[in-house]
Amino acid sequence: MPVKRFLDLGKQPLANGFMREVKNELFYNLSYSFDSKLKLIKMDEILPPAIMFNDNYVYHSSGSQTMRDHFKVAAELFRDKYKPNSVLEIGSNDGVFIKHFDKQTTIAVEPCGNFAEITNNMGYTTYHRFWTKELSREIVKNHDKFDLIFSANCICHIPDLDDTFEAIHEVLSDNGIFVFEDPSLLRMILRSSYDQLYDEHPWMFSVAGLSNLLKGHGLEIFDVSSLDVHGGSNRILVKKASNREIKTEIGLLNHLFMEDELGINDFESYIMFSKKVEESRFQLLRVLNELKSSDKKVIGYGAAAKTTTIFNYCGIDRSLISYLVDNTIDKQGTVSPGMHIPVVSPEEGLIADVDVMFLGAWNFTKEIVEKEQVYAKNKRWLTHVPFVRCI
Ligand code: TYD
Repeated sequence: MPVKRFLDLGKQPLANGFMREVKNELFYNLSYSFDSKLKLIKMDEILPPAIMFNDNYVYHSSGSQTMRDHFKVAAELFRDKYKPNSVLEIGSNDGVFIKHFDKQTTIAVEPCGNFAEITNNMGYTTYHRFWTKELSREIVKNHDKFDLIFSANCICHIPDLDDTFEAIHEVLSDNGIFVFEDPSLLRMILRSSYDQLYDEHPWMFSVAGLSNLLKGHGLEIFDVSSLDVHGGSNRILVKKASNREIKTEIGLLNHLFMEDELGINDFESYIMFSKKVEESRFQLLRVLNELKSSDKKVIGYGAAAKTTTIFNYCGIDRSLISYLVDNTIDKQGTVSPGMHIPVVSPEEGLIADVDVMFLGAWNFTKEIVEKEQVYAKNKRWLTHVPFVRCI
């Protein structure tokens, strides 16, 4: 059997389903399997994208200094190195990346209406649609082909990758490049960061798996680099297979070698990962219950989508974490999906009688710990990555 299940995280609500009023909450079963032929992991029960990516989507890419800086540096790098005459971004969110490009030669595709409106208002033609082959044909007709196609934290959201990559091939100029960034499967396995698995991530990519998939669509990876964002991501640089001008870089070979050496292509590694996930749950509940018994007040810092997976898998409710603080205005005044832990603003929640803060947004540890130095002076941070501990 090429496809085998290795992880079951049980009944889960929508990871970004923060609610002002609890009603009609949707639950599904979150489990993943390993495809030993393609070397990919895939969610077993994929939800229709329109349920998650709608006009009320709450995640803002510009919400942290880390991501604002990240996309600025990326845009400058691509502009200087590849000098594209035209740019297309798939999943442009609030425009954090495209704002660094010329409005006349840059367009965007964004299925969430609230964000498509923002970038349209900024002056970038934005198609308020899901990325499909049909749309790619329309775009070529209206704008011609593109020299740079960029997509960050979006391709791993799309269930039908065959259609996605065919559409990319359709719209990419012959000498153009397609660059995409998504969380790294290898880094997730090494860090036991299972909270990166939720409804919006039907896939977690290895470079080996992507290489296999892209080959079937006339596309080839020519370079890969590791990024620290989103808990460890890969930036994948792709060209048309017919383009002989661009040569394969050492980054690709290094990644493939590293993945293989560290067991990413072996089912056994996934079984070990699932055991570590169980251990992580056991340890997190042990620490939280000990803190509760000693009357310590624990809150969560960051109402990240990732916390939904943890809280629902571990059964963590308000009796263990009193509330979550988050700087996203749309999340403040809501309760968390499934466990219904209230979300408040940092101004309201970061008060004197807090003892411990669970780092839900652990991928921003550096930014958050630096920012909260004064407030956190006599308090502790609690994290579960790569293992449960107070820092
Ligand atoms: P993030 O880890 O980016 O992603 P996901 O939702 O995909 O798991 O979410 C981080 C959350 O933390 C986001 O809601 C914003 C919030 N946050 C703060 O409240 N304060 C901060 O200083 C930072 C960096 C993030």
